[in-house]
Amino acid sequence: MSQSLATVAYLGAAILFILSLGGLSNPETSRRGNVFGMIGMALAVLATVFGPRVSPSGIAWIVIALVIGGGIGLYAARIVKMTQMPELVALMHSLVGLAACLVGFASYVDTSVQFTGAEKAIHEVEIYVGILIGAVTFSGSLIAFGKLNGRIGGKPLLLPARHWLNLVALLVVIWFGKQFLGAHEAGAGMTALVVMTAIALLFGVHMVMAIGGADMPVVVSMLNSYSGWAAAATGFMLNNDLLIVTGALVGSSGAILSYIMCQAMNRNFISVIAGGFGSGAPKKAAGGGAAAEPQGEAVPVSAAETAEMLREAKSVIIVPGYGMAVAQAQHTVYEITKALREKGVEVRFAIHPVAGRMPGHMNVLLAEAKVPYDIVMEMDEINEDFPDADVAMVIGANDIVNPSALEDPDSPIAGMPVLEVWKAKHSIVMKRSMAAGYAGVDNPLFYKDNNRMLFGDAKKMLDEVLAALRS
Ligand code: TAP
Repeated sequence: MSQSLATVAYLGAAILFILSLGGLSNPETSRRGNVFGMIGMALAVLATVFGPRVSPSGIAWIVIALVIGGGIGLYAARIVKMTQMPELVALMHSLVGLAACLVGFASYVDTSVQFTGAEKAIHEVEIYVGILIGAVTFSGSLIAFGKLNGRIGGKPLLLPARHWLNLVALLVVIWFGKQFLGAHEAGAGMTALVVMTAIALLFGVHMVMAIGGADMPVVVSMLNSYSGWAAAATGFMLNNDLLIVTGALVGSSGAILSYIMCQAMNRNFISVIAGGFGSGAPKKAAGGGAAAEPQGEAVPVSAAETAEMLREAKSVIIVPGYGMAVAQAQHTVYEITKALREKGVEVRFAIHPVAGRMPGHMNVLLAEAKVPYDIVMEMDEINEDFPDADVAMVIGANDIVNPSALEDPDSPIAGMPVLEVWKAKHSIVMKRSMAAGYAGVDNPLFYKDNNRMLFGDAKKMLDEVLAALRS
């Protein structure tokens, strides 16, 4: 393939990636967005493999790598459960970071291309910055992977003088950068490069370890952004325009997502990165499990009583959370929705921006169950309507409906906007036990006079509610 044809293909792929991002911003167009993304990526891979910079003998190596990598990716995608998607995404981000590091070291030891003067300086800056971003992304994403799958506790690790440690690490990285750029002999900057990589790896670990359970959404989107910048840095090192454009698209959209997440959680971005948020006075380990301290009496309710309350309601708001994803209850939720709407009950869904474990988690599940988009409302659109609702039905959600975020300034989630379900005439919380949610915080909602607890697996209980509604 000639250079000009490859350039046209890259341009086409870049346009398709932009269309893909545009499509993904709305559930109704997201399927089309995904298709654009897939075509764009296929075009990009073909133009690269058959482009002018790959020799015919190199194609065999690329095909072997594609088969091995593609095979592992296919296997992982087939066995991963929907609830494990966030950890898989974190693992993918770590691979982008690792790739940036490896490409950086390979570019440095590669003597086939010799740069001089300003070009040499620019190339070395690309290598240094590329490895720096890549190493932070790699180790930070691995810790996020551990935190998301529960192998690493959600409690923030707050080292004494952690801000000073970060500052010293930054200064040392700058100093070694100067040494690296000043090294004249080929390979003489290797020590500086290795030391900087070690510091960047430690910084990535420290940064994510210092972030509390409830702030993990910001970390996920931030690492998404870092992986984009790492890819863009790789593009500079390899002199590949499409990788630069694609990396910049991922980097900037991840940064916008981080900003949106911070807004949703009422957090200051810099403070979240500096660590320590979500540390307040955590009473339980993140990831649930431990029982919440009793603060009154939680009143249990049966599936038949729940069906009765729903049948008598005029307006019902359903709040799905992580437990709905675990139980895979979305299809039964929609069956109940249809049964209630046939009886003339108004049913709407309230989606919290950080419900579940990844951005848009609940929207994806509800779309899979074919719930119409026009009854799925964002938090800001529906929060004021709870006082007019007869029943707010909470399905496997906890932190996102916790009133202590608004009422208790000492709570680790203080200040985070939540869905105010307790303002409805009745609320029903569906979960298996009194355990805390991801942030490990007690939930006073369970003990409110107008709240009832429907204990059990969400899918099993909803099946019973549906049967009772139909009988
Ligand atoms: P959580 O606060 O994690 O609460 C989920 C609840 O579901 C748990 O208390 C659990 O209680 C219940 N549950 C689990 N399995 C269940 C099942 N099979 N049937 C019924 N209930 C079940 O979830 P949330 O309210 O959706 O809030 C999300 C949390 O995750 C926030 O703290 C958020 O910051 C964090 N987070 C979000 C993201 C993104 S990007 N969305 C990423 C990382 C972290 P039982 O054990 O008693 O059943």
